[in-house]
Amino acid sequence: MKSFHIITFGCQMNEHDSERIAGILEGLGCASANADCADIIILNSCSIREKAEQKFFSELGRLKQLKASRPGLKIAVAGCIAQQEGAHILSRAPFVDMVFGPSDIAKLAEIIENTASSPVPVIDTQGDPEYHLKRLPTVRADKVKAWVSIMYGCDNFCTYCVVPYLRGRERSRPPLDIVKEVQDLVQQGYKEVTLLGQNVNSYGSGLEKKIDFPSLLTMVNDNTGMERIRFVTSHPRDLKERLIQAIRNLPRVCECLHLPVQSGADPILSAMNRRYTREDYLCKIKMLRDAVPDIVLTTDIIVGFPGETEHDFSMTMKLLEEVRFDGIFAFKYSRRPGTAALRLSGHVPENVKEGRLTHVLALQKAITLEHNKRHINTVQEILIDGYSKKGGRLCGRTRGNKVVNIEAPVNRVGHLANVRITAAGANSLAGQLCE
Ligand code: 5AD
Ligand code: SF4
Repeated sequence: MKSFHIITFGCQMNEHDSERIAGILEGLGCASANADCADIIILNSCSIREKAEQKFFSELGRLKQLKASRPGLKIAVAGCIAQQEGAHILSRAPFVDMVFGPSDIAKLAEIIENTASSPVPVIDTQGDPEYHLKRLPTVRADKVKAWVSIMYGCDNFCTYCVVPYLRGRERSRPPLDIVKEVQDLVQQGYKEVTLLGQNVNSYGSGLEKKIDFPSLLTMVNDNTGMERIRFVTSHPRDLKERLIQAIRNLPRVCECLHLPVQSGADPILSAMNRRYTREDYLCKIKMLRDAVPDIVLTTDIIVGFPGETEHDFSMTMKLLEEVRFDGIFAFKYSRRPGTAALRLSGHVPENVKEGRLTHVLALQKAITLEHNKRHINTVQEILIDGYSKKGGRLCGRTRGNKVVNIEAPVNRVGHLANVRITAAGANSLAGQLCE
């Protein structure tokens, strides 16, 4: 095996898993290549919603022809659909050679070796109880910003969500392993780290030595020299004053928070098993804004959850108007195999979900634009991380994670710079270097 090609679907966890898959493959002497000439193609799949699954299966379908024209090509399925379907993938795609789950990545070299000698496809979705203790070689896609997993799995069991069934029980990495990894990133020139976990606010439960997430943030802030620290994702129920104080007081921790609310209606929050009320959520938003007035807040919304009435939906719209998030990710509820919400009554017709999604997005677009416009004429510290899509200009992010396109005569990628914001749209800001 000399070359590989990875196609990634889904969230940051999956993107980061793909970086580890690339790390292992490069360690085996393979080089990254185009799909047309790679010896092995790995599809790192996502099954959070039906649409993600469809995208994966249509990509897999395309690979069938490629495999027919190049029988030596090996095809591997990794990620959440691999975990969910295991050997069942073969009934839809018998040309697949390997299937392995998110917690089996460390075994990849062995899996590839077994495939070479096995007359049948190799399936390994058993997981590895030590996975969270391993530091795998990683080939990172970005040279300025890096992801570091601090925990794996999820114990929340929100009734719509397939993740706990696929990524297993919550396991935290030991804090010193995390600090060491961030220190190494600083040595390599990285300027920003995003600490990853399904529910970072419960970091530390199960570790021998007692530690919580605010303490981990303090350790990373004090002992690594990383310029900027971010983290995702926080569960509102577990967001406590200690974390708010950490965001306020730790200079390297950026003033922004992604806090998924999912719905603004109490009956729906309860049916989702979110374990907070609308009022609890609003109270936490107030605490956050009282402590960190300029904090950038974003959220996730699901519309059309089973049983969601017009009134429930109007409560979500009202919550968006009241909180005025900087940005949201909104989704139509999608039925997921094995989840508790499947069995609820009152599934909402597709056209109603579609209509509600359109409303939510239109409302939020106006609010986001309003927030972004408030940046005009302010000076923001920008981490310049590349070039803008429209070409020519440099591109970076504010501490609040807003995209800024910058007129700059020189290459300043990887540097922090003060930028005066001159224009704002719904998706990005524009500005000029202050110096
Ligand atoms: N249907 C729609 N959206 C979902 N999410 C998770 N599961 C589902 C589902 N079954 C959304 C939630 C979560 C985000 C990552 O994806 O909003 O916060
Ligand atoms: Fe990520 Fe969840 Fe998709 Fe798995 S199912 S890739 S954890 S979003």
